[in-house]
Amino acid sequence: MQDAKDEIKARLPVEDVVGQYIELKRAGRNWKGRSPWGVDKTPSFMVSPDKGIWHDFSANKGGDIFTFVMEVEGISFREAMEKLAAQAGVELTKYDGGDKKVAEKKARAREALELATKFYQVCLTRNKQVMEYVFRKRGMNKETVKEFRIGYSPSGKSALKDFLLKKGFKQEDLETAGLLNQYGGDMFRGRMMVPFFEPSTGDIIGYTARILADGEPKYLNTSDTILFNKGRFIFGLRQAKEAIRRSGYVVIVEGNMDVISSHQAGVKEAVATSGTAMTENHLKILARLTDDIRLAYDGDAAGVKATERAIELAGGIGISLSVISGYNGAKDPDELIQKSPKAWKECVEQREPAIDWILKKYESQCDLETGPGKKKYSDEAMKIIRMIPDAVEQRHYEQKVARRLDVSVEDLRAKKIPKSGVKTRLKPIKTDGKTVSETAKIKSLEDQLQAILLYGGGAGNGIKLELPEDETRLAELELIFEEKFGAMPETELKKVAVEINQRYEQERKQVKINELTKQLEECSDDEEKTEEILREITRLRKNVV
Ligand code: UTP
Ligand code: MN
Repeated sequence: MQDAKDEIKARLPVEDVVGQYIELKRAGRNWKGRSPWGVDKTPSFMVSPDKGIWHDFSANKGGDIFTFVMEVEGISFREAMEKLAAQAGVELTKYDGGDKKVAEKKARAREALELATKFYQVCLTRNKQVMEYVFRKRGMNKETVKEFRIGYSPSGKSALKDFLLKKGFKQEDLETAGLLNQYGGDMFRGRMMVPFFEPSTGDIIGYTARILADGEPKYLNTSDTILFNKGRFIFGLRQAKEAIRRSGYVVIVEGNMDVISSHQAGVKEAVATSGTAMTENHLKILARLTDDIRLAYDGDAAGVKATERAIELAGGIGISLSVISGYNGAKDPDELIQKSPKAWKECVEQREPAIDWILKKYESQCDLETGPGKKKYSDEAMKIIRMIPDAVEQRHYEQKVARRLDVSVEDLRAKKIPKSGVKTRLKPIKTDGKTVSETAKIKSLEDQLQAILLYGGGAGNGIKLELPEDETRLAELELIFEEKFGAMPETELKKVAVEINQRYEQERKQVKINELTKQLEECSDDEEKTEEILREITRLRKNVV
């Protein structure tokens, strides 16, 4: 089930899962909230998106999304798995029969897609009309076609299928790869093939395929498979990653073809969400690479809507966006680039905060000389301004809008603003009513010691303790270390480590004594045993201060 577990984890950010139960606030790279077990006076519940883990410093529990749901819902691992699989849209039955089978299935699908891509690439070179479309009409050059592995799917019913079956692939492999339609024939026919590259490996995981003449649909995309998930996939990221790291910004455009043209024009920081609306996952993936995220959507109504949505999503995860617009009258970056690659480069430099851009849009849509116009403008504006996570920034825009409408900020704030439905209600938490137990106390001390031993340099030298190897557990200990000891100089940390170790030893002895005392009651008629236990207790007591 490791594969299913990984897939669910990849699709469900830990802060989202925890956020369904606990209100979380941003705290640097992490999120913070109150313990769901109600034992903290100040927020002591930490979530680390980078590590995919949580730790409750007051109740001393921690782990990944599965252990969290097990704990708050009081359910078994299997039940938590089923619950989260449903949320993630992962079909567990697909993974039945063991991980090995899934891994093999994935590998076969990858091989099929690699060979299919080669097949499409060859087909392109053999079709004059398609060459004409790609090089003339779309203006791609040889390097671009090679880099993006552009191809052509022949218009026969099963040209690719026949080819791959001859090469030893099974019908099932092609199905898994998303290469067949519902009738078992080729999914893509007579289209320009644009592969989807897996960002880290460069493996092909699917395609977006454009019709050459007019027709519907304009683009046909691979639907979700065990390799491809459209809610997470970012088109062009494989090719853009390095440029994004180097220049420190990313440009999100609407169309896949905008990405390709942009790269050809030298703006290699361009990516797109492929054939789907932007999701929080998309933004989070990009936010890990850079905090300078520039939107270059079309200026039409759909583009404004997409920008609004992006601002909402970004606000929810504490990042801000800027907007590139204008395109010198062209409808999208691709069209502008066809006219002038240089003009596109200049556009990318000229950007403004997304909120300013959208407020301007609203302003142009409303008649601010009239009462109803002012109402409409302030409704829309406040809906967006409310999404801004930073209080100072929020105030800035409130003042801006208030000035524009010639009212006070208080008037503006007093408005009843239609709910946008972003904030969802928190789920109830089941607790067993227990507070921090003796064993939890020991576990907390053990956690701290292990954290110091692992991440505290030499500060824990001399302390003997077995260390975990499990990845989730290691990540949790790292979080504990950063939170509790990250800012401590090593000399102090050494002293603290010794103290904690002493307390740890004592607590363990105390637990042992309690256990033995219980045993005493149980064997009261066995004199010899009683004697032995009493001796042991006395010996332990001597050492407990
Ligand atoms: P556009 O129609 O704006 O794409 O759709 P485009 O890049 O300008 O297309 P060209 O230049 O005419 O070739 C934007 C994006 O919406 C998705 C695709 O991902 C496309 O890149 N889309 C569009 C589809 O998935 N299916 C469609 O039928 C149309
Ligand atoms: Mn276009």
